[in-house]
Amino acid sequence: MEVLEAISTRRSIRKYKTDPVDDKILETVLEAARWAPSWANTQCWRFIVVRDSASKSKLAETLNETNPARDAVRNAPLLIVACAELGKAGHKDGEPVTDKGDWFMFDVALAMQNLVLAAHSLGLGTVYIGRFDAKEAARILAVPEGHCVVAMTPLGYPDEIKDPRPRKELAEIVFADKWSTK
Ligand SMILES: Cc1cc2nc3c(=O)[nH]c(=O)nc-3n(C[C@H](O)[C@H](O)[C@H](O)COP(=O)(O)O)c2cc1C
Repeated sequence: MEVLEAISTRRSIRKYKTDPVDDKILETVLEAARWAPSWANTQCWRFIVVRDSASKSKLAETLNETNPARDAVRNAPLLIVACAELGKAGHKDGEPVTDKGDWFMFDVALAMQNLVLAAHSLGLGTVYIGRFDAKEAARILAVPEGHCVVAMTPLGYPDEIKDPRPRKELAEIVFADKWSTK
């Protein structure tokens, strides 16, 4: 699938078939994440692939009941939890070098977007999950000090067809030469 086609046809998928994801396909998806750019090539991302049903159920409990992705965490054949090593992205000699502090969110997002688009191009569904108790997820997954859980996505074959959600028009989000309030 062409990159532009993958970008425009990807949807957040919250219902999954029980069909397993082949290890080779999983590796392809993780490889796509691995090739993302990162701050000074620091590659702060780490990925935990969760297949164990009990762990998936525990992680589902870290989402509140109103989160529409909650059941997908429990039911998808596997879950990818994106973590970050802190104090690397946006840092030099252990100190932040911009007003933004730690750039781990940015770098993990780049890797996740590669992963999500690669998954979609292979017929797999994903949904970014950011609204959950990340500290509790880190405890469940034994994530060590100096690292944190950033986001997760179920991975599996879609069991729903989604219409695109609306986007702002370019005229609303792109300015010429300087910021414009018009
Ligand atoms: C950083 C981030 C966090 C998100 N967290 C959640 C979440 O906790 N639960 C959920 O169901 N969807 C979550 N989403 C999915 C968005 O709701 C979805 O991407 C958006 O509505 C656009 O729909 P689309 O992905 O189908 O284009 C998240 C998306 C992003 C980028």
